[in-house]
Amino acid sequence: MTNDAGPAVVVVGSVNLDFTLEVARLPVPGETVLAERVRRAIGGKGANQAVASARQGIPTAFVGAVGEDPEGVELLEGLARESLDLTFTRRVEGAPSGRAFIAVDGIGRNTVIVAGGANGSLTGPDVDTAAAMIGRAAVVLTQLEISDEAVVAALSAGRAGKALTVLNPAPARPLDARLLALCDVLVPNSTEAAILSGCDDAETAAQALARRAPGATIIVTRGEEGALLLPPGGPVTSVPAIPVDPVDTVAAGDAFCGVLAAAMAAGRTLTEAVRQATAAGAHAVTIRGAIPSLPRASDVAALLDG
Ligand code: RIB
Repeated sequence: MTNDAGPAVVVVGSVNLDFTLEVARLPVPGETVLAERVRRAIGGKGANQAVASARQGIPTAFVGAVGEDPEGVELLEGLARESLDLTFTRRVEGAPSGRAFIAVDGIGRNTVIVAGGANGSLTGPDVDTAAAMIGRAAVVLTQLEISDEAVVAALSAGRAGKALTVLNPAPARPLDARLLALCDVLVPNSTEAAILSGCDDAETAAQALARRAPGATIIVTRGEEGALLLPPGGPVTSVPAIPVDPVDTVAAGDAFCGVLAAAMAAGRTLTEAVRQATAAGAHAVTIRGAIPSLPRASDVAALLDG
């Protein structure tokens, strides 16, 4: 599971300061609505996934970038409190830290707009400086709030070493064949799977993605419908969701991906890792905010035992 030479999971990705507006309902284009409450907390898909992994008791490193502003200090201090290895998270001179503006409605649905700031300055060569650490890890996990160049560097470093390479293609954008060929596991949600494949049905989308990435396991997360799992060569199996009452779906996918990575690093089978990840997503939707909603190992176990 762990490795004397470094972290078992390395997450390469974004970190943002999240401004979350609680609204009765999400505005339509051209409409103004009043927020009932505003909250401010650390987020960003990369940081959320790294924290979710670390909270499972798995040594985890985060590779990312913050701005040279007071928010950058706040973000680094918050991540350090989560026991993350931040050796390769750097401050970018002259850049603002990433910010996310999130609206959450009365039934937990959300919209998110990200101003990437320093996240956009994370380069391939930045990630290359962490290549030796990534190559020694059991799992490298990345997402698409950073440049393709940084994503390719992260996955390539994993491939060059012994790490299982995992991509959460969020937010979705076109992925070229070279990038897909570097993925051992691809974890879109159903919306992202539809955008990437052109197929609305989740199972058809998973099969279309499998044809584009024949060496990869495809895992499609479907919220309250659970997850679909398609290993190379098939067949598709379904892992049910754990029923909960959602208050805020922000970071549910990040909880899933971080716990999936941690479980795989701990040597769980893929099916067991997806079960744990599904419980993590269920936990996350019952608590407001991104990082505050990410489960500890005991939370995941309680939901699976319950
Ligand atoms: O996935 C949720 C995250 O998306 C938020 O924390 C926000 O920062 C954006 O990156």
